[in-house]
Amino acid sequence: MSLKIIITGASSGIGRALAIEYDKQGATLGLISRSKANLIKTQKQLKGVSEIFAIDVTDRQSCFAMAKQFLKKFGPPDIIIANAGISHGTLSEEVEDFEAFKSIIDTNLLGVLNTFQPFIASMKQNGAGCLVGISSVAGIRGLPGASAYSASKSALTNYLEGLRVELSSYGLDVITIAPGYIVTPMTDVNPYSMPFIIEAKSAAKKIIAAIRQKKTYAIIPWQMAIIGRIMHLLPNWIWDCLAKKSPRKPR
Ligand SMILES: NC(=O)c1ccc[n+]([C@@H]2O[C@H](COP(=O)([O-])OP(=O)(O)OC[C@H]3O[C@@H](n4cnc5c(N)ncnc54)[C@H](OP(=O)(O)O)[C@@H]3O)[C@@H](O)[C@H]2O)c1
Repeated sequence: MSLKIIITGASSGIGRALAIEYDKQGATLGLISRSKANLIKTQKQLKGVSEIFAIDVTDRQSCFAMAKQFLKKFGPPDIIIANAGISHGTLSEEVEDFEAFKSIIDTNLLGVLNTFQPFIASMKQNGAGCLVGISSVAGIRGLPGASAYSASKSALTNYLEGLRVELSSYGLDVITIAPGYIVTPMTDVNPYSMPFIIEAKSAAKKIIAAIRQKKTYAIIPWQMAIIGRIMHLLPNWIWDCLAKKSPRKPR
C-alpha cells in the first residue's frame, strides 16, 4: 500500500526534493507552502497522486482546515514532514529586527506544532505514524548574527524530543533531522563557503533513509554529524573564540 505523506515547504529546496523522491516510491502526497505557483511547479515534476495546499503554517486555522480536507480524502497520514522554515541574519541591538525574530520563531517552531497538531488525534487512533521535524545543526550552539534562527532550531529540537516521548506509547514515532548545509534558495544567499554542502536531492535521500530506519535524531551528512558532536562538547571559551571568527548570515 502506498504511503500517505504530508510535506510542508514543498515548493522549494529540501521539501521539493523530498516530494520528488517519495513520488518515485509511489507515495500519495499532501504538499504545503504559501506559494501556489511554486507548489504547482513541484507538482509538475511528480507522476503520482498529490494534493497541494497553499497555506501559511503560522496560520492555525488554515492548518486545521487543510488537515480536515486531507483526512476526509485520504485518511490519517503515515508520515508528516514539518520542513517549512525561514532564515535571516538578526541582531538583538537592532530594534527593527524584532519582526524578523518573531516570524522566524513563529514559522520554525510554532509552524511545526500547527502542522502536527491537527493530525495527532487521528494518527493516535490509527496507532501508527511518523512525525518528522527538520531542525538544523545551527540549533546545536548559539550562532552569532543568526541567534533567532539558531534559537528557533534549538527550541524545535527540544520540542521534538519531548513530543517523541509523549507519543511513544501510542505507536507514533517522532524523528528529528538536523541538516548541515544543503544547496537550496536558503543557502544561495550565504556569502561564505559552506563546509560539506550537499545537493537537496542527496539530502532528501538521506532524510528518507533516516525516516525508514526510524532514527530518533539524525544529522546529515555524516561529516556534519561529527562536527555537530564536537560543537556540542566544546567548552564555552573555545566555542566563543571560534564563533567570533565565523562568517555571518546577512540581515
Ligand atoms: N538549506 C540548508 O542548508 C538547511 C540547513 C539546515 C536546516 N534547513 C531547514 O530545512 C528546511 C527547508 O529549507 P530549505 O533549505 O529547503 O529552504 P527553502 O528552499 O527556502 O524552502 C523553504 C520552504 O518553506 C516554505 N515556507 C516558509 N515559510 C512558510 C510558511 N510560513 N508557511 C508555509 N510554508 C513556508 C517555503 O515556501 P513558501 O515561501 O512558498 O511559503 C519553502 O517551500 C527549513 O526548515 C530549514 O531551516 C536547511
